[in-house]
Amino acid sequence: MPIKWKTTEIETPEGKVKVTHWEKHDPQKLMEALQHNQIDRKGKNSIVTVHKFGSHLIAAKLFWSREATNRFKTLRELERRRLAIVETPVALVELSGEPLRSQIVTLYKKGTVTLKEFLNDLRYGVETKRKAALSAAAKLALLHAAGFTHSHPHENNIVVDKHGNAQLIDYKLIEKNIDSLDTRDPLYFEHWSGLIHGNTTTAEKFYQRLKDHYRQVKEKAQRQTIASR
Ligand SMILES: Nc1ncnc2c1ncn2[C@@H]1O[C@H](COP(=O)(O)OP(=O)(O)OP(=O)(O)O)[C@@H](O)[C@H]1O
Ligand SMILES: [Mg+2]
Repeated sequence: MPIKWKTTEIETPEGKVKVTHWEKHDPQKLMEALQHNQIDRKGKNSIVTVHKFGSHLIAAKLFWSREATNRFKTLRELERRRLAIVETPVALVELSGEPLRSQIVTLYKKGTVTLKEFLNDLRYGVETKRKAALSAAAKLALLHAAGFTHSHPHENNIVVDKHGNAQLIDYKLIEKNIDSLDTRDPLYFEHWSGLIHGNTTTAEKFYQRLKDHYRQVKEKAQRQTIASR
């Protein structure tokens, strides 16, 4: 079932905010979670805040309003089409005051670390690391087959669970495919394989394997899309 949305205006100590949220969520509780239940900060500039919201963890990021509206629209479209979700949208919080700014709230992917942390973790062997990279390439392939590019799938914009299942995050740069834009994302495969294999020859072989896997998953997804039309 696609998410049902609702918009509610709420008074806060900082002024009025307009919250576009899941119909089944209490927007007041969501605002309280954003204001009081912060449990972590993430990212180079610590701009992503992580909050407890009922049984969920949610991630909030602040943007200029126009940017937020556009990004949120893309996230909603991806969710509605159930094709290749990068992050599940939870809310758009339009703050009052000048300059106009808004927060995008998404579901935080629990129990994950970044691909970079995963590939640097000595507890995992080469096969598990390869599995994580292959899984990330497959997720990109699905996104591309759906007609979107990520544009910046570096190892901090991918998170991995302890089994090596990768998920894409960071919707900042996602755009609708324009011609051959999706040739850019797979360039990152070279970097991932370099992080797994210090040895140039092995890294090159695994890079090829990532590209093959990417192509196979993408072609299969495209065939399925055509068949279901
Ligand atoms: N939905 C999520 N699930 C799990 N982790 C997340 C999620 N969103 C963000 N993170 C964590 O927060 C970090 C920064 O998030 P994100 O990439 O969205 O922001 P950014 O603006 O690119 O930050 P940076 O300046 O670090 O690149 C990620 O590298 C990841 O560790
Ligand atoms: Mg990022």
